[in-house]
Amino acid sequence: MAEFVRLQRHGAIALIIVDNPPVNALSQPVRQGLQQAFQAADADPEVLAVALVCEGNTFIAGADIKEFGKPPQAPSLPDVIDSIENSRKPSVAVIHGTALGGGLEVALGCHYRVARKDAKVGLPEVKLGLLPGAGGTQRLPRLAGVAKALDMIVSGQPIGAAEALEHHIVDELFEGDLVEAGLAYAQRLIDEGRGPRRTGEQSAGLEGADNAELIAAKHAEVAKRMRGLFSPLRCVAAVEAATKLPLAEGLKRERELFAECLQSPQRAALVHSFFAERQAGKIADLPADVKPRAVKSAAVIGGGTMGVGIALCFANAGIPVKLLEINEEALGRALQRARDTYGASVKRGSLTEEAMEQRLKRVEGVTDYAALADVDLVIEAVFEEMDVKRQVFERLDAVCKPGAILASNTSSLDLNQIAAFTQRPEDVVGLHFFSPANVMRLLEVVRGAKTSDEVLATAMAVGKQLKKVSVVVGVCDGFVGNRMVFQYGREAEFLLEEGATPQQVDGALRNFGMAMGPFAMRDLSGLDIGQAIRKRQRAELPADRDFPTVSDKLCEAGMLGQKTGAGYYRYEPGNRTPLENPDLAPMLDAASREKGLERRELDEQYIIERTIYALVNEGAKILEEGIAQRASDIDVIYLNGYGFPAFRGGPMFYADSVGLDQVLARVKALHARCGDWWKPAPLLEKLAAEGRTFSDWQPGQ
Ligand code: 3HC
Ligand code: NAI
Repeated sequence: MAEFVRLQRHGAIALIIVDNPPVNALSQPVRQGLQQAFQAADADPEVLAVALVCEGNTFIAGADIKEFGKPPQAPSLPDVIDSIENSRKPSVAVIHGTALGGGLEVALGCHYRVARKDAKVGLPEVKLGLLPGAGGTQRLPRLAGVAKALDMIVSGQPIGAAEALEHHIVDELFEGDLVEAGLAYAQRLIDEGRGPRRTGEQSAGLEGADNAELIAAKHAEVAKRMRGLFSPLRCVAAVEAATKLPLAEGLKRERELFAECLQSPQRAALVHSFFAERQAGKIADLPADVKPRAVKSAAVIGGGTMGVGIALCFANAGIPVKLLEINEEALGRALQRARDTYGASVKRGSLTEEAMEQRLKRVEGVTDYAALADVDLVIEAVFEEMDVKRQVFERLDAVCKPGAILASNTSSLDLNQIAAFTQRPEDVVGLHFFSPANVMRLLEVVRGAKTSDEVLATAMAVGKQLKKVSVVVGVCDGFVGNRMVFQYGREAEFLLEEGATPQQVDGALRNFGMAMGPFAMRDLSGLDIGQAIRKRQRAELPADRDFPTVSDKLCEAGMLGQKTGAGYYRYEPGNRTPLENPDLAPMLDAASREKGLERRELDEQYIIERTIYALVNEGAKILEEGIAQRASDIDVIYLNGYGFPAFRGGPMFYADSVGLDQVLARVKALHARCGDWWKPAPLLEKLAAEGRTFSDWQPGQ
């Protein structure tokens, strides 16, 4: 038998142990080992019951995601679970950690289930563009009911052990040792003469509710809220099969729907997103023996929009944080903003009053730099002006203890210049949070020319503590995310000069899957930010470089976006719904006229190519310059910080899936038509010529 699965005898109990670190995924040897172990226990006349436990931190966390898209290898998971369910010996699955996907499906194949109190169970396949393909959609509703099963399968969100008990997914909770709990439960099965209780033969969950109505309601909800996604509607169809068909036929239908999802490009993109996120945590040139410093306390300088959000991230993670402002008045405003932010969560019901008070206690307001002498990490979030940054970093250098990490949240200034304001540039790093910092998952960790390996490793570890998705980036204007979004936003605005309206551009990009269109986004963050960047770039770039002018016209008219009640759109007081701004149309006409352009209808495909390929071309330049380590890191940034649709895998993966030769052909055509903003990135030209993708490229190749 494969070493991934061990079979031990404890009297009349067969103990089956899965051991496939790190998450006990169901790769082929595990499936084979499980099937052989259950068959051996079934055939052994001295075995009266079976307990299934897992080594390590977790029960089986699902199918082996790396196997998707490769030729299937027997035994299939449905066949393995079939052997488990049809075994004549009663079996109990002992769940700890996370029983996810195929893992929960294996547990549902067992006749009984016990879960450690801190365990979680779930069917997250939908997040990978799939549906539970090994009986989950047929067995879960039989136990938990159709409503709960639909919720779990369509959302992919795991639930805690207590909730699983409440919904009959597990039979009992336990604390303490897994093997002891498993053997004790199996012994009780023997003592009480309880035989196999096959989930597939249960029907309690299918009774007592109007299942057709539940299915129709979920179908309508998914069609509206998860527009463009391939697998969620198929999840609903599979559960519907459970309500209408006998088990064997329902399983067959589930299998067909699973196969459809497996073939879909969305599955490939979502699996890419899963691994890309995990890959982002790995820093290619960081020696393995570098140990991060301990960060047990933190401080934030500047209690504005970003500073308060960053302080809350630490408070949420249980790390005490000092918040420094210029005077008592500003400090009072900052602390009030912290309280208001939590207050909104309490109002929504996502935070208790008690938890709010506990977290606020971790935020200490100060106005004196001397209070920072002992902290392990300081993050500066003051005005975006080099001279202000200089003053702050000189002060920090003077008061902070040796070994303290000095970080900047700057979004565009040169981190190396900031580091040079201190006597310890090796301890300086960029921690670029996204707004609102306490909500957005993305963190760009900016590696300065002198940032030490230890400080970089610590910054990544802090990101993990704060539950952020951290991506290492190099120093350049805008780092990765904003440098690319500048290209995207500029092209979106050129489209306005060619004849589009903000509604058309935003609509096309939302149809593509973007969470928000570029103009609604600009209205939200404020048009003045872009104006400052354009001003700087006009001074730096060749004089013949064309810049769009609509945004400048809006700024001149005092229309800076939501904060002034109008921008590309108009807003009613207290309402964020974008309405048509009647003052815009003459500005669009004027902008077109000034450039000698005849306004014309633009189709969606053109709008998408013009904006998304602008991201891709800049992304390729970023890769060549070594600003990002790998193409998938750029994707992670766009998926987590810019609302890029996960089902397209990120801009670089999207370009790969279109084909780089085709992308290049369009970029070249736009270069000829629109000028040097569109100069093709040499890396794009090289990979397209070699028939390769961004995904298979590594630095130096
Ligand atoms: N298959 C293959 N590798 C997996 C995996 C899986 N199902 N789950 C995790 N891994 C790998 C990760 O890639 C990572 O590898 P690395 O160290 O080389 O980067 C390693 O395991 C550890 O993963 P995390 O960093 O994510 O560890 P955490 O402790 O933070 O999280 C977890 C653990 C909650 C289990 C999380 O990994 C997770 O959510 N995994 C995916 C679970 C899932 O989606 N299961 C369903 C699979 S589809 C399925 O089962 C189809 C079936 O219905 C037929
Ligand atoms: P803000 O203007 O809202 O807040 C800045 C705060 O810093 C003010 O409260 C001010 O009183 C305080 N401050 C100024 N000088 C100080 C000093 N010497 N000592 C202590 N406090 C001082 O600015 P915001 O938007 O929070 O931005 C802060 C930084 O974060 C900037 O570098 C910005 O580029 C960056 N950033 C901003 C993002 C955003 O969306 N607003 C996103 C990511 C980064």
